[in-house]
Amino acid sequence: MPERILINEVGLRDGLQNQPVHVPLAGKLELIEALVAAGLRAMEATSFVSPKAVPQMADADALYPLLPAPESVRYSALVPNVRGLERALAAGAREVAVVLSATETMNLRNINMSLDEARQACLDVIAAAAARGARTKAYVAVAFTCPFEGPVACAQVMALAKAMFDGGAGEVVIADTIGAASPREVHELLVECVQAFGAERLAAHFHDTRGFALANAWAALAVGIRRFDASIGGLGGCPFAPGAAGNLATEDLVVLAEQCGFETGISVPRLRAAVKVAERLTQRALGGRTTAWLRAQELKLRPADLAAAALDGPAADVHRAITAHP
Ligand code: COA
Ligand code: ZN
Repeated sequence: MPERILINEVGLRDGLQNQPVHVPLAGKLELIEALVAAGLRAMEATSFVSPKAVPQMADADALYPLLPAPESVRYSALVPNVRGLERALAAGAREVAVVLSATETMNLRNINMSLDEARQACLDVIAAAAARGARTKAYVAVAFTCPFEGPVACAQVMALAKAMFDGGAGEVVIADTIGAASPREVHELLVECVQAFGAERLAAHFHDTRGFALANAWAALAVGIRRFDASIGGLGGCPFAPGAAGNLATEDLVVLAEQCGFETGISVPRLRAAVKVAERLTQRALGGRTTAWLRAQELKLRPADLAAAALDGPAADVHRAITAHP
């Protein structure tokens, strides 16, 4: 039996929160439908934050009750405070995520709280959620490098993760919010986390700012991590973290995992269809590192046909590579 990895789709939240084009509720539901049709069974659907801070998430209360297939998809919502938790629960959420940045400055910029205040706010939300029977997970953000304070010590991340587990969090997600980690750093931190907390309670969240997201995911897989966040088409970036580019693309992770013998339960052609929905909604070109390759396969064209199809950009590069090395 191939080993299974669980992919939590975060395009609807981490992806859309940063997009300048307003995506209407119907468009979000269309994208979610496409992702569920592709086989995604875990998804961060939205966040219950201040609509002034993140206007794109202002429709969270209306969106949540409309989420498709709630019995078979594990949906979650990000909440910054107990007020956000109350909104999420009222809208039907059964799992919420809190975000604790690993440095003082990042917490101030993201949620206007000091690190101590943010830690306490997360613990308050976790306790209140537990009392109401909701599952919780805690992100430790900027776990490798902070855009304001620079490198973050492993011990700091470990201490914050421990505080979240001790407070009752069901899962901790180690997040490279700005995509500054290397596979070596991922290895160093996650080896320790797995030893201390167990791989089954951990997940990893990478951004592809430097093209390292897949390499980092591989480093995490190698130390036993089996839960990953990823974002359709690589959509993403944090409005409060300068330098944060797109997330690890869901399709890239699925292709890597499947090709290396892991099972994801996700259909790559259907993911590509979801990428096209996301492109239409955000009015921008999307797609991870595997895009050119996947497009060439979709076209199922021989090299001569590819030339005749006058392919643009990356697909043309793949075509040239194929024809140069028959
Ligand atoms: N949902 C909706 N509105 C909320 C809210 C919530 N969970 N929490 C606070 N608010 C409202 C307040 O009522 C207030 O509204 P007003 O200006 O109309 O009076 C406003 O947001 C500011 O609230 P305040 O308590 O003064 O907090 P703040 O200005 O320090 O902001 C946060 C703190 C956390 C609410 C805000 O920074 C936020 O929502 N950030 C989101 C960050 C985010 O999503 N980051 C990306 C993911 S990591
Ligand atoms: Zn992120």
